[in-house]
Amino acid sequence: MPPRIAILPDAVADQIAAGEVVERPGSAVKELVENALDAGARHVRVELEQGGKTLIEVSDDGCGMGREDAVLALDRHATSKIRSAADLVGIRSFGFRGEALPAIASVSRFQLVTSEDGKEGTEIGVTGGRVDGVKSLARQRGTTVTVRGLFFNTPARRKFLRSVPSEARAAHDALATLALTHPEVGFELHIDGRSRLAVPPDQSPDERLAAIWGHDLVKTLIPLDHAVGSFRVTGFIQRPGDAAPSGRRTQLFINGRPFRDPFLVRAAEAGYRSAIHPGDRPSLFLKLETAPEEVDVNVHPAKLEVRFRDRLGAERVVEEAVREALGRIVSAAVVWAGTGGADRAVRTDEVDVEGADGVLAFFEGGPPARSDVSALSDSSTPPALSQLFNTYIFYAESDRLVLIDQHSAHERVLYEEVMTRIQSGGLPSQRLLLPFTLEFTDEELEAIEAHGEQISRIGFEVEAFGGRSVVVHAVPAPHPRFDAQRCLRELVSDLARGRFGGWANRLERFAATYACRAAIKAGEALTEQEMRGLVTRLFACALPPHDVHGRASMVQLPREELERRFGRR
Ligand SMILES: Nc1ncnc2c1ncn2[C@@H]1O[C@H](COP(=O)(O)OP(=O)(O)OP(=O)(O)O)[C@@H](O)[C@H]1O
Ligand SMILES: [Mg+2]
Repeated sequence: MPPRIAILPDAVADQIAAGEVVERPGSAVKELVENALDAGARHVRVELEQGGKTLIEVSDDGCGMGREDAVLALDRHATSKIRSAADLVGIRSFGFRGEALPAIASVSRFQLVTSEDGKEGTEIGVTGGRVDGVKSLARQRGTTVTVRGLFFNTPARRKFLRSVPSEARAAHDALATLALTHPEVGFELHIDGRSRLAVPPDQSPDERLAAIWGHDLVKTLIPLDHAVGSFRVTGFIQRPGDAAPSGRRTQLFINGRPFRDPFLVRAAEAGYRSAIHPGDRPSLFLKLETAPEEVDVNVHPAKLEVRFRDRLGAERVVEEAVREALGRIVSAAVVWAGTGGADRAVRTDEVDVEGADGVLAFFEGGPPARSDVSALSDSSTPPALSQLFNTYIFYAESDRLVLIDQHSAHERVLYEEVMTRIQSGGLPSQRLLLPFTLEFTDEELEAIEAHGEQISRIGFEVEAFGGRSVVVHAVPAPHPRFDAQRCLRELVSDLARGRFGGWANRLERFAATYACRAAIKAGEALTEQEMRGLVTRLFACALPPHDVHGRASMVQLPREELERRFGRR
C-alpha cells in the first residue's frame, strides 16, 4: 500500500495559509499596510477597485528590498523580523511569521516592485504562487505591491466574498485602524478612483483620532490614564451623557497593536456602572501597555486576538481606569440653548473634581487650603444656595454657575447609599405607630416575595396579611417629605413590570428602582439646610454628575460663557 501521509506541496500549503491570513480584500490591505509600516514608511497609499476584488495596490516609501531579499520575501516563513523562537516574545513589529506575502501571492496575480536605494529596483510577478519572472527597473525608494484578481484560483473562497460596498468598507476600516497606530505616517485611500481617506503625516495622536473618528464623536470623549503593576491603560472614553444605544466605536490596542477583545470591552462598560443607561454603548479608545511576556499575540492567524497571562488582572485595570476617569469629570451636559440661533446648544467644559472638593470643604465648614492668604475674603464663606422652580438648586462659584437637579441628585445619593449598605446591615427604618395595609396584584405579590430580602434591607417591614393585602410595620425615612405608601406601591409595580429590566445586576437594578422612587421629587420646596445636606452628600458620591438613568444631575455655566454671551469677551 502506498503511504497515506504526504507532505503538501508548498503551493498548496500557501493556499491553505492564505485562507487563514487573508480571508477578504480588507485582510490583504491590513497585511500589506503592516509591512509598509514595519518598513518605516512615512507615506502609505492604497488603491482599490471593486472593493479590492479586482485590484488592491499598496505603495510605500519605506526601506524597500534589494533583489535577493525581494525574491526571498515570497518564500514561506521568510521574514526579516525575527530570527529565533525567543524573539517571538516582545515583538514590536506587526509582522513576524513571514507568511503574508507568499499567502497573498498564492491566491492572486501578484506583483512586487521594490527598491532599496532609490535607483535600481526589482520587479517580481507571481501568478497563483508561481513566479513568472524577475526584472530590473528604475524606481524610487520603497515598495509597491499590486494584487489583482484575489482568489481567482480558489473559486470557493471567492464565492464567500461579500458585496463590493461591504468589502470596500472592511478594507477602509482596516486601513483606518492602522492609521490610528501611526499618527506620524500619512495615509491615502482611493476607491475606484475616488479619494476616501487622506490623513497627513506628523499628526499628534489626538489629531489623528479626530481625523479618523470625526470631530463630533471625539468631542464627546474624555481622557483616561491608569496604571497598576506592569499594566497601563490610556486613551479616551465617551462621556456617559453622550453614549447612545447604537453607533458606538471601539478600538483596543495592546503594545501598539490593534486587537479585538469583547471581554475587555465589557470590563470597560462595567466601569461605567450606573452612570449610563443599561442599553447605551459608549465609544471606547483604549491603549493597553504591558510587559511583553504578559501577552501572546501569536494565537490568531491574523493576529486579531491576543492571550493575556493574567486576564482578570487586565479586565480589572480597564474597569478601574474607566471608573477613575468618570469620577474626575463633574459635568458635561447641555446648559443653555443659544440665543444666537436655536440650533446652537452650548456645552460646558468638563471640570475636574478639585472644584467639587472645594465645594465640599465649604459645606463642612473648613476653609479651602488655597485661601490661607485671603481667609477673610469672600472665598472663605460657603456659597449661598438657592432653589429655582422648586426643582433645581443653584449656586455661584468664582468662575461658574452650578445648577443641580434635586431629584437626580438625591437619586444618585440614595443609590450609592443602598449599594454600600444593603450588603451590610441595611438602612435605618422607622417603626410605625399605626401599621398600614396595601393591596397588590398577583404579579406584584410575586415581586414582593422575590425581592423580600432586599425590601426589608432598605427598611420596609412587610407582612402578608391574607388575600392580596400586606401590612407594613416599618418604613425607611430618606427625607422628611417621604411618602412611604406611594414609594412602596411604585417600587413594587416597577419590580413587577421589570421597568429597570436592562440592568444586568439584580441588586443594582433594585437599588436604582428604589432610589428613583424614594428620592425627593421635583416641585418640592427645600430649606437651605436641606439643600446644603443634599449637595454635600452628592459630592461625597463616587459618581456625582449622573443620576441612575445616566442623565446629568448637575450642569455648569462657566463664567467665560456668560461673558461671551454678554459680549464682554
Ligand atoms: N513593504 C515592504 N517594504 C520592505 N520590506 C518588505 C515589505 N513587505 C514585505 N517586506 C519584507 O518581506 C518579508 C516578508 O513579508 P511578510 O508579510 O510575508 O512576512 P512578515 O511581515 O515578516 O510576517 P507576517 O507574515 O507576520 O506579516 C518581511 O519580513 C520584510 O522583510
Ligand atoms: Mg507582514
